[in-house]
Amino acid sequence: MTEHLTIVDHPLVQHKLTLMRQESTATAGFRQLLREISQLLAYEVTRELEMTTKTITTPMQEMDAPVLAGKKLALISILRAGNGLLDGVLELIPSARVGFVGLYRDEETLQPVEYYFKVPEAMEDRLVIAVDPMLATGNSSVAAIDMLKKSGAKNIRFLCLLASPEGVARMKEAHPDVPIVTASLDEKLNDQGYIIPGLGDAGDRMFGTK
Ligand code: URA
Repeated sequence: MTEHLTIVDHPLVQHKLTLMRQESTATAGFRQLLREISQLLAYEVTRELEMTTKTITTPMQEMDAPVLAGKKLALISILRAGNGLLDGVLELIPSARVGFVGLYRDEETLQPVEYYFKVPEAMEDRLVIAVDPMLATGNSSVAAIDMLKKSGAKNIRFLCLLASPEGVARMKEAHPDVPIVTASLDEKLNDQGYIIPGLGDAGDRMFGTK
């Protein structure tokens, strides 16, 4: 991918996103919409995957048919909200390898601190897609990408549902080589680091917590 930011403006994505934003959409509906939208976003983030051909036999004749090339890609969920995006993407790419990055925010320094990190082997040979629904301040996304690069990843894309201008700028500064695919670039962050107009706390809305 050459663009640093891709906004998927497909009508189905935008319609589903509007339903997700609405306060009146409850947990089950939110989760289902997230699953559906994540597959449409996955379609876009995998658009330029490398291809090769293999010889197959149809009922009519042999042909050289296109198939994905190279090692299985790695999907990395940034916990915990990343899991909501992960499920849908995995349905579309069931052979993908899966990793998890857990970060919490130190309330004194406000910096992200790692509590869990487990990724597939040979990260340097895979396309790595990091998923997190909300690119807000960008602090945890930047830290997660730092960790993925330390593990060897060289070809990384970031998939989110909503992005803030602040988060996109922070990612561009720290990781200009990591393209971002999102359904919407919202207006701004508020003082608490929530995306405005946004959809609230994505983790709480998908898991029914408060
Ligand atoms: N995380 C969320 O879940 N929502 C926001 O608006 C920002 C960060």
